[in-house]
Amino acid sequence: TVELSLRPTTLNQYIGQAKVKENLSIFIQAAKMRNEPLDHVLLYGPPGLGKTTLAAIIANEMGVQFRSTSGPAIDRAGDLAAILSSLEVGDVLFIDEVHRLPRSVEEVLYSAMEDFFIDIVIGTGPSARSVRIDLPPFTLVGATTRAGLLSAPLRDRFGVLSRLEYYETKDLCSIVERTADIFETFISKEAAVEVARRSRGTPRIANRLLRRIRDISQVKGEKEISLETTEKALKMLQVDDVGLDHIDHKLLIGIIDGFQGGPVGLETIAATIGEESQTIEDVYEPYLLQIGFIQRTPRGRLVTEKAYEHFGLKANDAE
Ligand code: ADE
Repeated sequence: TVELSLRPTTLNQYIGQAKVKENLSIFIQAAKMRNEPLDHVLLYGPPGLGKTTLAAIIANEMGVQFRSTSGPAIDRAGDLAAILSSLEVGDVLFIDEVHRLPRSVEEVLYSAMEDFFIDIVIGTGPSARSVRIDLPPFTLVGATTRAGLLSAPLRDRFGVLSRLEYYETKDLCSIVERTADIFETFISKEAAVEVARRSRGTPRIANRLLRRIRDISQVKGEKEISLETTEKALKMLQVDDVGLDHIDHKLLIGIIDGFQGGPVGLETIAATIGEESQTIEDVYEPYLLQIGFIQRTPRGRLVTEKAYEHFGLKANDAE
């Protein structure tokens, strides 16, 4: 699919995240020089920043197979045993949402990561017995939104911990231009900057917005995506000046109108606006914190003066 071909396949093609890339590049080189598998890698950070892409790049750069699954997809230790015992030497096993592995499965992973074997129990009751299965040395690449969601024993078994950050506008702009190239579409510099600026630091959002803007530009018969069309399209898509969407608005206005700007607890906000608290915490809140529109206090979330100004409101108005 197009989505798949958008993904860069080498570290050199991967734009931004300079620190993460520099570190990984050295660790990959060293592992290859020693002819060893790469140490286990934990990638963490908000959704849409390229954790899966990076995991696939690691496999490609190491010259090994990429196997991919997710925490919630593995519900029994036997499922994990089946995956692990089918690996070949040096393979990358990617587990997305690694914090959502059931505890019984997670415990099997400890010996697999540390000493490349698993003990699985076969049968039940008096006839149950434990069987040891040796595994080929492999690299586990885990992804999660926050490193703190992992249990300490699991976190401690990763040798490399890399945090992905929101992208700078200039890097997102390069990503937008690269995607436009792949689409064989022209986009003006100002239009690309505008998409980048309004994508919440997130390549997945930038690429999604670009697809929709391209549709609109194409229907208009433009030969190059213009700034004017981009602005019109973003308005249609309910993306505001700083890239916030209608859910960000609902969240902020919900706290402002319902709780005089807070502080208010996460669960209360979630119930009020009808969104999952986990989605608010993992997807919406991190960016609003980053741009200084909300603060976390011991008594809950607080909307800042900066956010009030964004909506043309004044904080602390008596109503
Ligand atoms: N597409 C999505 N994220 C990317 C990145 N970091 N570099 C290049 N292309 C991308």
